[in-house]
Amino acid sequence: MTPSCTLALELATLISNFKIGDEVLVPDFTFVTTAQSVALRGATPVLCDVRSDTLNIDESRLEEALTAKTKAIMPIHYAGISAEMDRINNFAKEHNLLVIEDAAQAIGCSYKQQPLESLSDMAAFSFHATKNIQCGEGGMLAINNADYVNPAIIAWEKGTDRRKFTEGRVEKYQWQALGSSFLASEISAAMLSVQLDNEAVTNQTRLEIWNRYYEAFAAAEQRGVVTRPGLPKHIQHNGHLFYLILPDVNVRKRMMVFLKEQGIETTFHYTPLHQSEGGKKYCKLGMTLDNAADLPHRLLRLPLYPGLQISEQEKIIECVNQFLVTL
Ligand SMILES: Cc1ncc(COP(=O)(O)O)c(C=O)c1O
Repeated sequence: MTPSCTLALELATLISNFKIGDEVLVPDFTFVTTAQSVALRGATPVLCDVRSDTLNIDESRLEEALTAKTKAIMPIHYAGISAEMDRINNFAKEHNLLVIEDAAQAIGCSYKQQPLESLSDMAAFSFHATKNIQCGEGGMLAINNADYVNPAIIAWEKGTDRRKFTEGRVEKYQWQALGSSFLASEISAAMLSVQLDNEAVTNQTRLEIWNRYYEAFAAAEQRGVVTRPGLPKHIQHNGHLFYLILPDVNVRKRMMVFLKEQGIETTFHYTPLHQSEGGKKYCKLGMTLDNAADLPHRLLRLPLYPGLQISEQEKIIECVNQFLVTL
């Protein structure tokens, strides 16, 4: 457990030994810290376009961003809907790359019936207050590649072999390698433990809300006025968030204002990294970024939390459809 997903990602990039000159493939549509965890090591995040249906890294175009300096791929699972892990892992194997999943939104999700955290070298999760399972601020790094377990334990314990000391295997602990204070507090862990006991119920409740939204906007999608999230057959998601893709940024603005007037708070999501100051400074473009440059500006997230009552959701659906018929 770590104090955040951001620190789980930084722990992962530290033990992966990324250096100046190394390149890591990341989706252009992601939270800042996926790429920042690479840039903090002096390495270069290489921005890749996303698929139009899931908004996850476009696995069919990874080759375009590959160079002799590429060391890893860091896919995210947007909205808890898994990236295409078989293609990503096969590509990584072929080119001797690490795969570090940014699974911040994907607690309890699976791909071809395998839990996401079991599919790659490492996977970072978030327990931030906005996530399905949360303790205010918290994170976790799941490690599947045995080569990285001991380096992670040392880095996690501030670069020391304190773990061996507490297990009585050495008389005193000392500095071993680069690390930091990647430990979460006991208080956060205690809170998280109770939340984790409820994981199945929480995810199920969110999925029921998600499914009602998904069904409710099927007709609007058929009329061509919105696009619902793409749902590959072989994934199981956790109902983390529900979004619609609208025809353009102005429609989104108008819809947000309309819904706000009805007392409904909606929000958009990440700015494409290549359009941000930090992205321009620290990243490199791996390919043309057509979907990532466009879709985030048309994306609108609807309210979704376990306490949302059916009557409240019905009102939201009615108001959204009321707006959509005007398009
Ligand atoms: C894809 C992704 N990565 C990383 C993070 C950062 O998580 P944390 O706030 O736990 O550091 C987020 C947070 O929303 C996220 O969506």
